[in-house]
Amino acid sequence: MNNQLEIENLTNQFQYFPGTRYMGSKNKIIGDLWNHLSKIEFESVFDCFAGSNVVGYFLKSQGKKVITNDFMAFSHITSKAIIENSRHQLNSVDLKLLLKKNSNNGFIQSTYKDIFFSDTENEFLDRVRQNISELDNEYKVALSLSALVRACIKKRARGIFTFVGERYNDGRADMKKTIEEHFIESIDIFNQAVFDNGKKNESYNLRSEDISVKADLVYFDPPYFTTNSDNDYVRRYHFVEGLVRNWQGIRIQEHSVVKKFESYKSPFSKKDTAYSAFETLFKKNQSSIIAISYSSNSLPSKNELIQMLSKYKSNVEVHEIDHTYSFGNQNHKVGNKNNRVKEYLFIGI
Ligand SMILES: C[S@@+](CC[C@H](N)C(=O)[O-])C[C@H]1O[C@@H](n2cnc3c(N)ncnc32)[C@H](O)[C@@H]1O
Repeated sequence: MNNQLEIENLTNQFQYFPGTRYMGSKNKIIGDLWNHLSKIEFESVFDCFAGSNVVGYFLKSQGKKVITNDFMAFSHITSKAIIENSRHQLNSVDLKLLLKKNSNNGFIQSTYKDIFFSDTENEFLDRVRQNISELDNEYKVALSLSALVRACIKKRARGIFTFVGERYNDGRADMKKTIEEHFIESIDIFNQAVFDNGKKNESYNLRSEDISVKADLVYFDPPYFTTNSDNDYVRRYHFVEGLVRNWQGIRIQEHSVVKKFESYKSPFSKKDTAYSAFETLFKKNQSSIIAISYSSNSLPSKNELIQMLSKYKSNVEVHEIDHTYSFGNQNHKVGNKNNRVKEYLFIGI
């Protein structure tokens, strides 16, 4: 196969990316990002705040060596399943094992009774979660957990875990399927997403402050600090994060109605620490090309970021991408004109 054909085949693979809603996902603007990134020469890329993994998966499908990181375990496990993993898939024997009856500790059933899912659904989750620990291959574990997370998110109105019950159930098809149907469908979807791009791709589950990776290009898409929006990933996704971690090392806040646990501290979520967090990232990665996604209503501001990046990079470009976030919260509603933010792509070479 010639090189051009190889790239085309890989690019076609991107259609199999298992997208779910994820706060701040670049899914809708991946083409715009690639428009700019494709003009740069690089073989390896470090996606330090991988989130839904759409950027890493896209770049894997462009033949790049991809290293991802995110401090959320449920983001990391998906990256392990479809970016680091190049060949393992779940087969019918695995599926039988995953669905078999067992006696388990009923943790989800007792802890989350009448909160997000019905008793039958909670029983299913307890059963499958326990069966997953019997799989003896780390990539099969990652695929199964990713499928289970996808099933939970699909079966949940708005795909988030901030409220009790079915308040926002709009009766769409996803809400009508059983959680087991979602799980089985998700296994197929994740199996299809597995492919080999000929590179040794890696994924990590660390705080950005604690990881150093050598790559030709580093891509930073941290949570945006704004005064009027909520960027707390644990608050939204604590249930699936707990599920992936099997609630190990997590202390549930018993007084909270949705039984969430304490948010992970991120320096990017607070004004007084966001500046120095960027500064540290730039300094640590100054020998790589640095690309940053950031938005116009955030701090540091565009000009401040340009100045900070210019300390380490002689050539700094800023590209504007028009983007309306589809995720809103109380102060930041979908369709609200305040939600019309410009997405910037900074590139420092
Ligand atoms: C804006 S989202 C990234 C979205 C991603 N580019 C996508 O397209 O889906 C920011 C991500 O940073 C992660 N994060 C926040 N603070 C972090 C930290 N200090 N270290 C590592 N990851 C962090 C969050 O878990 C979240 O997934």
